[in-house]
Amino acid sequence: MCGIVGYVGHRPALDVVLGGLRRMEYRGYDSAGIAVLDGGELTVERKAGRLANLEAQLDKVGRETMSGTAGMGHTRWATHGAPIDRNSHPHRDTTQRVAVVHNGIIENFAGLRAELEADGVEMASDTDSETAAHLVARAYTDGDTKGDLAASVAAVCRRLEGAFTLVVTHADEPDTIVAARRSSPLVVGVGEGEHFVASDVAAFIEHTREAVELGQDQLVVITREGYEVTDFHGDAAQAKPFTVDWDLSAAEKGGHEYFMLKEIEEQPEALANTLRGHFESGRIILDEQRISDQDLRDVDKVFVVACGSAYHSGLVAKYAIEHWTRLPVEVELASEFRYRDPVLDRDTLVVAVSQSGETADTLEAVRHAREQKARVLAVCNTNGAQIPRESDAVLYTHAGPEIGVASTKAFLAQIAANYLVGLALAQARGTKYPDEVAREFAELEAMPAAVRKVLSTVEQTRDLGRRIADSRAVLFLGRHVGFPVALEGALKLKELAYMHAEGFAAGELKHGPIALIEEGLPVVVVMPSPKGRAVLHSKLVSNISEIQARGARTIVIAEEGDETVRPFADELIEVPAVPTLLQPLVSTVPLQVLAAEIARARGYDVDKPRNLAKSVTVE
Ligand code: M6R
Repeated sequence: MCGIVGYVGHRPALDVVLGGLRRMEYRGYDSAGIAVLDGGELTVERKAGRLANLEAQLDKVGRETMSGTAGMGHTRWATHGAPIDRNSHPHRDTTQRVAVVHNGIIENFAGLRAELEADGVEMASDTDSETAAHLVARAYTDGDTKGDLAASVAAVCRRLEGAFTLVVTHADEPDTIVAARRSSPLVVGVGEGEHFVASDVAAFIEHTREAVELGQDQLVVITREGYEVTDFHGDAAQAKPFTVDWDLSAAEKGGHEYFMLKEIEEQPEALANTLRGHFESGRIILDEQRISDQDLRDVDKVFVVACGSAYHSGLVAKYAIEHWTRLPVEVELASEFRYRDPVLDRDTLVVAVSQSGETADTLEAVRHAREQKARVLAVCNTNGAQIPRESDAVLYTHAGPEIGVASTKAFLAQIAANYLVGLALAQARGTKYPDEVAREFAELEAMPAAVRKVLSTVEQTRDLGRRIADSRAVLFLGRHVGFPVALEGALKLKELAYMHAEGFAAGELKHGPIALIEEGLPVVVVMPSPKGRAVLHSKLVSNISEIQARGARTIVIAEEGDETVRPFADELIEVPAVPTLLQPLVSTVPLQVLAAEIARARGYDVDKPRNLAKSVTVE
């Protein structure tokens, strides 16, 4: 939550920072702001609302007022203080010489604020972040840290509690930007005669793919010539360089109206890239595996912890992992996990699934699991993010950058990666013979083609979306792996179209929710294959006829050629026949398309739903 960018180099900082903010806006869009250093002058502009509001303001004041080749910017997801101009970042100290942008929450800000106010500082905002600007200004004028911006920032960081990334400038050090992090993301971009800091490499990908990942409690000073990493005590520290394996086109809309629409279309590649290289010499291979084969053999219980769509990917995987490994699998919302004293020990494997790798709820669940000595394996889409860093092993989903707030390609890639974890466990524990593991992997490898086929037929779903866009609510039903798909379909519709939507296990309907059915209510039913689990199929056919008899408008997602269901489907969406456990990879796609199209028809911004941000770094 909140996107930050900093730059020192040879180009106009305003252009570089605005370009970066455009690609960081997925992290929050309550306000945007920018600071540019020019010689000894620090100029700040900030505005509530989307980046477009800031750009309009810049046009009004004249962009030439912000010339200079060093600067920083911020796009906000509000935590402390309403999303209004005065709470927008950058924040400055009372002398207006120091500017700070912040991502995260300074948990001890109330005490720090009281201390500053007792010193006569008048706060200009309601934010926790502003305290950091005053504290840095004070440290810069006093004591050991006097006249040393990096030392001043380090001293302030030592006093802060909570999660934060800070980027700080001082008008007295015009060619320097200092940034620091604790439990919030920060990467450095290394260019020729220019350096960048940002929440995410997407901010500077058009200028360089060479990046450096900062560790916990590290601080970096960037100048035109180079960068220097230390800890919060000023001692030199190691940071990890890496080369980004995607380019600018991946972070651009590429002719699509919304990122989400592009990301839906990228799902076959996301799946193929996630699977690539994970089956070699007849064995499933994980990425950074710091869990031994013996430890995998000793696992006696699996937890999947995650939030939102990632949680749904875990619910899907439970069916496969239990089936393949005969291990009990519990899937838990990360935000609940550590508060209920789960039973964990060194033979528990906790799979933490997170696209961003920085979701605070999931990170805290990881920390709790490790404190209890459980092994943690992260499934993550973001190289070097905090969750994989704090885990014992990592399996990266190579879905590429996902910018639309609603998860699409990351969700499908998470299912595939979770399945790889299941197969790796089955292989280590010997619950599947090598030829069975090879067969399951081959079936997974056939999925990009199946998803491509679904994508070639979505026009009908779009049309349906436009026709039901005025509905008051939509229900989603499924059984077995179709149940989490129903939950995911409902989540997509809620977050994108602000429509009441709920997913149910179809068998539960008669225990209460069937009372919701009324004339014309759209109900989406995710059918299992008639060939796979025939009993499931026939039970679901009965459930559809029950709701149709009560007036529901049935929208049925079914396997091609499933004629038994046709009489019960007011609308039939066909998907290719695939093995039962892999059905979520095809049946989710029409639900994504449906939600996006309903949101468009209702006039909403599909990429930036209200109140949401892509990375949720607060609990
Ligand atoms: O980055 P993560 O995978 O940890 O994010 C988890 C959820 O916040 C995320 O899936 C969210 O539910 C999406 N907006 C769903 O579309």
